[in-house]
Amino acid sequence: MAMEISRRTFIKGTAAAGVVLMSGAYLGCGGKNIPEQVRRGDVTYDVLVIGSGGAGMRAGLAAAQNKDLKVAVLTKLVPTRSASTMAQGGMNGVTGVTDPNDSIESHTFDTIKGGDYLCDQDAVEYFAENAGKTIFEMDYMGYPYNRQKDGHFHQRKMGGSSYPRAAYFEDRAGHAMVHALFEQCLAHNIDFISECQMLEISMTDAGKLAGIVAMDMRSGDLIGIPAKTIIIATGGYGRAYWVRTSNPYSSTGDGIVAGMNVGIPFKDPEMVQFHPTGLSVNGVLLSESSRSEGAQLFNKNGERFMSKYAPEKMELATRDIVARAIATEIEQGRGIGEGLTAGVYLDFTKIPPERIHERLGQVYGLAKRFAGVDITKEPVLISPTCHYSMGGLEMADYKTGATRIPGIFTAGECSCVSVHGANRLGANSLSEVLVFGKTAGEGAAAYAKEHSYEGTQDQLAAACTKWKDHFDKVTARPHTTNRTVPEIRDAMVNTMWYKAGVFRDGAQLEAASKELRALEEDYKNCYVGDSSHVYNTAFEQYVELGNLLQISHAIVQGAAAHKESRGGHSRRDFPKRDDVNFLKHTLIYKQPDGKYTAEYKDVVITKYPPKERKY
Ligand code: FUM
Repeated sequence: MAMEISRRTFIKGTAAAGVVLMSGAYLGCGGKNIPEQVRRGDVTYDVLVIGSGGAGMRAGLAAAQNKDLKVAVLTKLVPTRSASTMAQGGMNGVTGVTDPNDSIESHTFDTIKGGDYLCDQDAVEYFAENAGKTIFEMDYMGYPYNRQKDGHFHQRKMGGSSYPRAAYFEDRAGHAMVHALFEQCLAHNIDFISECQMLEISMTDAGKLAGIVAMDMRSGDLIGIPAKTIIIATGGYGRAYWVRTSNPYSSTGDGIVAGMNVGIPFKDPEMVQFHPTGLSVNGVLLSESSRSEGAQLFNKNGERFMSKYAPEKMELATRDIVARAIATEIEQGRGIGEGLTAGVYLDFTKIPPERIHERLGQVYGLAKRFAGVDITKEPVLISPTCHYSMGGLEMADYKTGATRIPGIFTAGECSCVSVHGANRLGANSLSEVLVFGKTAGEGAAAYAKEHSYEGTQDQLAAACTKWKDHFDKVTARPHTTNRTVPEIRDAMVNTMWYKAGVFRDGAQLEAASKELRALEEDYKNCYVGDSSHVYNTAFEQYVELGNLLQISHAIVQGAAAHKESRGGHSRRDFPKRDDVNFLKHTLIYKQPDGKYTAEYKDVVITKYPPKERKY
């Protein structure tokens, strides 16, 4: 199969890795987390990316191909600690390398069917056309793929895929991706602004982008960063389901809330993915690549129960189907254990131990460390865990990453393109962040070249003062009868897990809504405690909880109004898919008075009319 990009053309457009240590702007900060010019207020970025995961760094890299543009990536962590590093299984794309029978058409259809027909089909076609190219691009950037004997990278078959199309490095696909991208970003002199928590996107009274306000976690300083464009790439919000999630502590939906606050709708918030195989003991992910390599699921009676739920694809049916099958087995008494840590067996013993060590080293280590199980010898208990948000900020134009607000772009898990519809296929996420990260970077760069900056430093300074006052006020509250941040968070995540989780129904969603309203009231006066300035993680968690409460509000509102079952949204009171009334995207808007309103938008159908899904 002919690819449009060759190693030679790719390398020509990028700097050689050898310059990394010489010119890396991050290292040029002399160990500081913020470039001096940002502190001095001497720089207006053409493109300011918020979030240093796969989407953010790919976007920054694309924008930085324009050498005359000033590009920065801001993160509340450090650049290589993003949620993308936790992605395990691989990145899907048709390359013609591992199986010549695979096709872009097949990838497109698998994705649409996997998404239970809620995907915008034009966007999926674009995604599938470009996903294979990104696999080659990562190869040229030095991604250390697992390889076949002939030197070509190997691809594995993940859930819901008709062919082996996920290229990977062991079961650490995201970790390798983030590091390869970081090296390239350094080579392209991108500024990194690390350990800075974005607090708001600032707009002028005339509705023009001014920049962002962030808190430097090292010092507590509030900094306004002027930018002509921003790209929101802050990842998902799995921590709304803190009870059981595969997501890191940082996945708190910050960018989505900041985007909603300036008028971008939150699209399909109710479409939350529960990954079938989290460790029962704590929800940590055991990669779907385990099942791709041959691991099997058994209930307590020794039945390979997937034969009842997905007789053809078995363990490699889509995640929504496998997760519900496991939850049903446990609910009906065929699981092992009680309560939250009940599970079913994931058995690796059909896989040769040397292959486990070669391709599933992280899974091996996680099972050993957290569950005390050597998977080469015995099965490990697993059950569903909150993993991914199909919903996110509405991307108004998938060819540029633009939102409906001029100058603001988005990419990655915090965005909704919508490629994944109601259920994402395993390994479509990493390729999505690469495809749409790149287009968002190019889109923002093109916008920055054509527009001048229309904000002011004064305006950003005023926004910083507002946040400083807020910090002083909330951290000075006495601990009288006010609930603490962890208390409110614990209550919220229990509501979300038990009332808006794998299975949902109207009565539970109504109860969830009432509970969340009460928690929002508690939050207004909650106890934060720490008023110090250096690494005040109590204030950071206060901000994150505020974001998670708003995200949860939108999930529950979207789910309550969505009276059918589709993909990851499974209503016991409406168990069937209803294409007549619900072949639509939910758009939740935050109004200036803080209320949420909903609108609905037709799904884009090109050549794939909705059909019943069978696996
Ligand atoms: O199971 C996994 O390895 C997860 C992959 C993904 O979410 O794409």
